Amino acid sequence: MHDIFEKAQQTQTAIDADTPVNAEALEVFRIQYLGTKGILKSLMGEMANVPNERKRDYGQLMNALKQAAESKYQTLKEAFEEQEQGHDRQAIDLTAPGEPVPLGSRHPIAVTMNRIVEIFSRMGFSVVDGPEIEDDWHNFTAMNTPEDHPARDMQDTFYVVDAPGMLLRTHTSPVQARVMENRQPPIRIIAPGRVYRNETISTRSHCQFHQVEGLYVDEGVSFADLKQTLYYFAKEMFGTTKIRLRPSFFPFTEPSAEMDIWLGTDSEKNYRLTKGTGWLEILGCGMVDPDVLEMCGIDAKKYSGFAFGMGIERQALRLYEIGDIRLLFENDVRFLKQFTPAM
Ligand code: DAH
Repeated sequence: MHDIFEKAQQTQTAIDADTPVNAEALEVFRIQYLGTKGILKSLMGEMANVPNERKRDYGQLMNALKQAAESKYQTLKEAFEEQEQGHDRQAIDLTAPGEPVPLGSRHPIAVTMNRIVEIFSRMGFSVVDGPEIEDDWHNFTAMNTPEDHPARDMQDTFYVVDAPGMLLRTHTSPVQARVMENRQPPIRIIAPGRVYRNETISTRSHCQFHQVEGLYVDEGVSFADLKQTLYYFAKEMFGTTKIRLRPSFFPFTEPSAEMDIWLGTDSEKNYRLTKGTGWLEILGCGMVDPDVLEMCGIDAKKYSGFAFGMGIERQALRLYEIGDIRLLFENDVRFLKQFTPAM
């Protein structure tokens, strides 16, 4: 009788002392203590020989033993499994070639924009940025287009409901005002970026497109400077030496003009792009209205300047001979991947 308790006690000590070091040893441990023919089973079988008044004690001792063995087994089992996974991770072959990541390419609009920026940089223009969410003052009023001016109708846009007076800029021209407010001439900048119009009212088919703005203010800047600058641009950009300036109107320039480049009508694409005229309009320009200079804090008696603004999409179509403007917005990878990643 006494022996049985002692044997149980020894088993407890043995379980505590026995700590298998790997999964195989753990399996031996399980069979030894918890198996159907294991020590605990056989100790349990001894219950019949325990006197009634001590059966309770013996039962409790058995429970404690079983719990100790099971919890040790469970803990070690999890630990070994985790170790195993760790080994798997380490088993990755670091010398194997990597999975290829497909290289993207620049969007034709970005490539075209970069090219324009590059050409003007060569003439000493530096790039500035302006906010796409603009205030009414910079987008319209400072550009000589006060409230109720009919020219606002041509550039209806999206207004920010929670912030009265804030809107999505309709052109990059407000950057002119922002630059002139903050520094004095000589100013020679270009401002590329995204602009927005409400397409249901404006005649443009897209409510978001891209422009590049240019501004040059200094003493004695003349229309001849404007013309020569744009001529150089057209030559570098399109390889054409035939341009024309047509009189036009913009509220912020006086006089104003639109510039066309000659493409001819030889190819069907050029015929379509120029609507049969051979001339493709690519930008608006003019001498900065003295009122605009004054509104932005520049002395119009001392300084004069020219400005220009151009859409990018149409130039991208021309540059890459893309037949349909929608291709620029559909983001079809089969189309986009034709453009070089490097530019
Ligand atoms: N902001 C005009 C537009 O979006 C384009 C423009 C015309 C910009 C003449 C100029 C300019 O700077 O001088 O239609």
